[in-house]
Amino acid sequence: MFTLESKAALVTGSGRGIGRAIAKQLASAGASVMLNDIDAEVLKEAEGEVGPRAKSLACDITAADAPQKLVDATLAAFGSLDIIVNNAGYTWDNVIQKMSDEQFQAMLDIHLVAPFRVLRAASGWIRETAKREIAEGRRVMRKVVNITSISGTEGNAGQSGYSSGKAGVIGLTKTLAKEWGRYNVNVNVVGYGLIETRLIQPLSGPTASIEMKGHQIPVGVQQRMLDAAKATNPLGRLGTPEEAAGPVIFFCSPLSDYVSGEVLICSGGSRF
Ligand SMILES: NC(=O)c1ccc[n+]([C@@H]2O[C@H](COP(=O)([O-])OP(=O)(O)OC[C@H]3O[C@@H](n4cnc5c(N)ncnc54)[C@H](O)[C@@H]3O)[C@@H](O)[C@H]2O)c1
Repeated sequence: MFTLESKAALVTGSGRGIGRAIAKQLASAGASVMLNDIDAEVLKEAEGEVGPRAKSLACDITAADAPQKLVDATLAAFGSLDIIVNNAGYTWDNVIQKMSDEQFQAMLDIHLVAPFRVLRAASGWIRETAKREIAEGRRVMRKVVNITSISGTEGNAGQSGYSSGKAGVIGLTKTLAKEWGRYNVNVNVVGYGLIETRLIQPLSGPTASIEMKGHQIPVGVQQRMLDAAKATNPLGRLGTPEEAAGPVIFFCSPLSDYVSGEVLICSGGSRF
């Protein structure tokens, strides 16, 4: 029904999980893909898995200069930037009385400030290119997909930082949809329920913690919560990274050329 041949994409946090699945599906639809992750080892592995259409740049996307470097690297590698997926993320949870300023700020930095900086870094090239195309009488659609969570749309106990960042990125999406419509950019957001990745691994065992800026941060969900989520989910199960990538690919494709500023929830029907 469509091809992404000749399109260049940038996917943050694509070393593993949902981001890797998005990168693979974009490449199999014909796009060239710049992968990014803070974790250089898994990033190289992902680049190999995505195949010859992939390049990668390892960096911490919350570093102030990283978004511009990543945008510049994508343009240098592919000569274009047609699809941006702001996917990188992690959780650093606690009830509000135990949440430090650093912890709360880290959640805003990764889920809201980094996507803002990536889009601002791309804005110069996107606007100039679109103006030229429009002057030539051509309509070339470009795509931005941000990632949120039902924690951002509904709230979730223990996640004041995460849900604030994930709610904020919806505002960013809706505003950019209005600012960038004139440049033929569709800007949308996909929100997930529980998708089977490292982020929601059962909270036990040796891998249930990640290192981030000198902190060991436990990531995962209590087994009883996972069981309850499955039991109450209309489809009776959690989602796979491949299923999570589906709505993102829709928003990256010509099928969504007249859809902008929307929130699409991919949760099997659950809303917390
Ligand atoms: N898995 C779920 O149930 C779920 C639910 C709602 C939303 N989400 C969102 O989906 C997105 C992908 O999460 P996932 O489930 O695939 O998790 P994941 O941990 O499997 O993958 C996330 C990737 O982002 C990378 N990353 C984290 N911080 C980074 C940084 N500062 N710079 C660059 N890369 C960084 C990680 O190294 C990791 O490879 C996130 O935004 C997450 O908040 C996931």
